[in-house]
Amino acid sequence: MPYETVNIIGAGLAGLAAAVTLAEADVSVNLVSVQPSERAQSVLAAGGINGALNTMGEDDCPENHFADTIRAGCGIADPEAVRALTEHAPQILRWLDRLGVPFNRTDSGAIMQRNFGGQKKKRTAYAKSSTGKMLMTALIDEVRKYEAAGLVKRCSHHEFLSLLMADDGEQKARSTLPTAGDGEQMLVCGAWIRDTHSGEIIRLNGPVILAFGGMNGMFPGITTGTTANTGDGAAAVFAQGIRFSSLEMIQYHPTTMGIAGKRCLVSEAARGEGGRLFIMRGGKEWYFMDEKYPELGSLMPRDVVAREMYFVKRDPGCEGQVYLDMRHLSEEIWSKRLADVRAEILHYFNLDPKEKPLPVDPGIHYFMGGIDVDVNHRTIAAGLYAAGECCSQYHGANRLGGNSMLGAIYGGMTAARCIVREWDELQRHFHKWEENGCTEGRKSEAQTAPGSPWDLMPASPALCEEVSLILSASLGIVRNGDLLADADRKLKQLLERGDLNRRERNRVYLALAMVRSAELRRESRGAHYREDYPERDEAFRGMMTAVMAGDEIRIGFRGA
Ligand code: FUM
Repeated sequence: MPYETVNIIGAGLAGLAAAVTLAEADVSVNLVSVQPSERAQSVLAAGGINGALNTMGEDDCPENHFADTIRAGCGIADPEAVRALTEHAPQILRWLDRLGVPFNRTDSGAIMQRNFGGQKKKRTAYAKSSTGKMLMTALIDEVRKYEAAGLVKRCSHHEFLSLLMADDGEQKARSTLPTAGDGEQMLVCGAWIRDTHSGEIIRLNGPVILAFGGMNGMFPGITTGTTANTGDGAAAVFAQGIRFSSLEMIQYHPTTMGIAGKRCLVSEAARGEGGRLFIMRGGKEWYFMDEKYPELGSLMPRDVVAREMYFVKRDPGCEGQVYLDMRHLSEEIWSKRLADVRAEILHYFNLDPKEKPLPVDPGIHYFMGGIDVDVNHRTIAAGLYAAGECCSQYHGANRLGGNSMLGAIYGGMTAARCIVREWDELQRHFHKWEENGCTEGRKSEAQTAPGSPWDLMPASPALCEEVSLILSASLGIVRNGDLLADADRKLKQLLERGDLNRRERNRVYLALAMVRSAELRRESRGAHYREDYPERDEAFRGMMTAVMAGDEIRIGFRGA
């Protein structure tokens, strides 16, 4: 039986965009997710989505967007991919507009765009400060049409377990299919998933698009993201030999506030609309960002702002807490652009940002690193694609706010289009694999079946906490070789324990790959700041890569 269906793992923006694109091409889709789309991380995205529409009379263009993205990423994002992303951004915004996203408008009815960090032009389109929710609502609706037509089958409340991979025999038989890798490549023929209600384990045949979001669950308590994105999916495919890149690049969002179990985001929109950071020094408010960076002030790229906050908090002349000041913003800004930011802060903290400055601290917000993909969103394995926050290429050492939803939508569409283009070739590979008897599982089932019940148990809360404590101690805003070596040693000790199940071991290996990538990048660049190597070193201009070979983690380097 040939492939009939593409399996998309994750039903946030990237997964939905891929589903729509495939369904439009008459390809059927299994849309697999633990949570329904309405609860995906994308719903939490607040401030906006970038695209050089040039509606604000500032002479903006995709070339400017490209330049800002490459500059913010400190020169290590893939320029070809960023070029494609920024050139397609205006048409993606117009498409979203046609789908009915209620973007804020100018008096003349054009899509309004606001300032956002690290960008010199007003380029961020927004729907108040609930942009993610509005985009998701529109795409969920669009996908529903194809669900009704039978082209998209929802598998909500199903968790991804592992990839179904052809064994060595088929790998050698395979391949004129291009991938992001070079040399010998693997072939992915499907995925194993589990119904989280019944416990049934299900095998899905066909190409796979991974769109399961970031690794927030590796950092519970200190992330703005949903910890329902456990990182287990990433850990599983890493252990299966899929190459990752830029794992050391973790974004700290400057303005977050503590709330039970996580960090609550105070959207960058607050600073985009004029909010300013200060700290008390000598009894007076010191607006340190304005003084140090007169051009962009508190709207410098996130890595710069978070680092400055880290240092002023430790300055003995300062009072230790940074505040976000929005008291001066106009009524119009509060009612038309930041109404939901204010409502949320009032609701969760009983603080009115119109009246009082907000005590803010940086929190983990985004993973620039993830599954290594090429411009077509292919991974190193034929038949496997990745899009959205789980993949790495657009953001380099620091992501611009507003580029994540854009990257997710464009990435999902691009992966889907690549599959449609390569469909016949994928079919040929699938047939070859099938002829070798693997569809019935006779040959490679033992290697690829998801494992014993013990191996399928989720990682224990105790182990997760241990790993997260090690990671947060070593992968902070400021890092150094001693902290990283200590984390490396502790993670290796965990691996030496005999009582970890497979999912726990996978998690530790992924954590170790993060730490090793940071250890080996002996320089400071973007979100990766080493106090023992505080300067940028152009010998490191490129992406660190990480791949498992047996029980060994191989860290490599892909120059820009
Ligand atoms: O602050 C924010 O609204 C976040 C936006 C983003 O990360 O793109």
